[in-house]
Amino acid sequence: GGNLRLSIVVLGASGDLAKKKTYPALYQLFKKGFLPRRLQIVGYARSRMSTPELRERLRGYLDTGDCECVEQFLNACSYMHGEYDAAEGYERLGTELSAWEAQMSVGTPTKAHLAAATAAAQAALAQAAAGANGGAQAVGSPPGVAAAAAAAAAAAVGSGLHGAAGPGPRLGRLFYLALPPVVYPQVCEHLRNHCATLFGGGGGGGGGDRGGRGGAQPAQGSFVRLILEKPFGSDLASSEALANSIGAHWPEEQLYRIDHYLGKELVQNMLMLRFANPIFSAFFNRHYISNIQITFKEPFGTEGRGGYFDSYGIIRDVIQNHLAQVLALLTMEAPVSLHPDDIRDEKVKVLRCIAPAGLGDCVLGQYVADKGQPGYLDDPTVHPGSRTPTFAAVRVFVRNERWDGVPIVIKAGKALNERLAAVRIQLRTPPASIFGPLDHMRNELVVRFQPGEAIYAKMVVKKPGLEMDFEMSELDLSYPERYKGVVIPDAYERLILDCIRGDQQHFVRRDELRAAWAIFTPLLHAIDAGAVPLHPYPYGSRGPAAVDGFITDSGYVRTEYSWQQAHPS
Ligand code: BG6
Repeated sequence: GGNLRLSIVVLGASGDLAKKKTYPALYQLFKKGFLPRRLQIVGYARSRMSTPELRERLRGYLDTGDCECVEQFLNACSYMHGEYDAAEGYERLGTELSAWEAQMSVGTPTKAHLAAATAAAQAALAQAAAGANGGAQAVGSPPGVAAAAAAAAAAAVGSGLHGAAGPGPRLGRLFYLALPPVVYPQVCEHLRNHCATLFGGGGGGGGGDRGGRGGAQPAQGSFVRLILEKPFGSDLASSEALANSIGAHWPEEQLYRIDHYLGKELVQNMLMLRFANPIFSAFFNRHYISNIQITFKEPFGTEGRGGYFDSYGIIRDVIQNHLAQVLALLTMEAPVSLHPDDIRDEKVKVLRCIAPAGLGDCVLGQYVADKGQPGYLDDPTVHPGSRTPTFAAVRVFVRNERWDGVPIVIKAGKALNERLAAVRIQLRTPPASIFGPLDHMRNELVVRFQPGEAIYAKMVVKKPGLEMDFEMSELDLSYPERYKGVVIPDAYERLILDCIRGDQQHFVRRDELRAAWAIFTPLLHAIDAGAVPLHPYPYGSRGPAAVDGFITDSGYVRTEYSWQQAHPS
């Protein structure tokens, strides 16, 4: 889409997520040439700030290797101040976007073109405001707006704009909501009412609807899309309520719910691992697999983020979303095709086969001070006496023909002994072993998402030498070794690019979200009610001692050999 005229609007531009993740990812895409030449990135937030101030602020977060490129990028960035809960700011935003699109729609913009195009856009807006009923509007443009814009523009600039008969240029608007979800409903409503109609008409539905009426419509493939970030509610009911209020204004095909784990290289690789390799798919079932461990460990605590974390806890923070997505990709059946909806259909299906986790299927922990490191309750942003879990191990079962009876333990914790995200698939012991008991030498397939991406299979081999001894070794695909020098793109970069390209595969569909919440909601309610014991564990440890027995009870056997990364990254 070299032809695309793209506006990216970062709502919440002055916040943490925007400067740490959104803008740096946009910059990388810009630097690598993945963003169109005709581009504007509008920051919108409540802070009173000027465009130069925003640019100054962002500069410190961008990789400054290429100064000229940074300057070019910052030149495309502007700032607009506005409230989230009042129409006025969004009206200005809408006018600005239309004016820019109008300007981008003329061959060589002259002052006259610009003035005319802006006037046209304003006329369109005035009409939209007059006609707006404030309620849920159908996708596409409100009647009259497109016509007004097109007529005014055509009259004013004559042949400067694409004629009434031919299609206009391809336009795109991407709204990135780097905002707390409490404001999503109002932001979504205002964006729909004031910012969702492209210049020339059209709401830019999913793939490429033309939507608008009148001449100079945006070309096929024009779009308006929204990127949203978790948390999406805090249980099934609140998530559904949020989804309803967003869904009243934006259809599913325009919504891109980010789960950044879906942007990780090895999470994306699961599809190939599962469905392009009979060597693995042959044993992917209850007959060969004893148990599965999905592990997330971080070596740091909440450290100032306690305000957010304390009302969510580790299950809502990473298990219900990131690790449930990994679980779905790991256990789903083969999709009918690679179409994003076929893949998401399979994820929903398998998630719906998972029975809600029971109270007995869970071990909770909270870290306490150790070796000079603060405990969770020492974080001043945490509620005094909080019982929020910072560690959880939850056991689930997929009740279908393939997986019934295979315990799957999802384990996640903060302030542990290392950083690790991995899946460990442990096979059963070989039957009637002629080598004696091999229980401590089980085969395992491990997918290590981070750090140091790797896929390896632990196996028994003859110990090289004159004796007929055996030992554990592994088939090892270590990315830093095998793909030396290949830079693995950041998850956000990838996902924003997918959104620009209109590929929803790596975004969470509403029914997936619902199915994932259904698994954990009864347990979460029991935890909130204080019905599940909370074990203290020292900062920097492996977690609460009780978890070892829990994992053994789930069929896991600690094997003899411990894989070492050949070339740690
Ligand atoms: C976020 C959680 O979604 O994921 C954080 O809110 C967590 O608590 C983070 O630290 C982990 O992401 P990554 O990519 O560092 O594994």
